[in-house]
Amino acid sequence: MIVCSCNVLSDKEVRAAVHTSASRTAKQVYGCLGCSAECGRCARTIRKIMDEALTGATCASACACCPKKASKTAPASRP
Ligand code: FES
Repeated sequence: MIVCSCNVLSDKEVRAAVHTSASRTAKQVYGCLGCSAECGRCARTIRKIMDEALTGATCASACACCPKKASKTAPASRP
């Protein structure tokens, strides 16, 4: 999902930047992805994605698409 329309950044790209570059600020994430904040409307969303990525938290609604939830509900291995 595109989270920054000015720079056409997806949530996956933001997560990858947090994990691969240990970015701790939104400015570092933009820099890692080769851009900078333009209008700033995405800053809150970028920060939320960063917080989730850094803490390993699931989204507030724990929706079915959440990768953390999917890993928790994986079927047990067979004996
Ligand atoms: S939407 Fe991200 S800088 Fe404008």
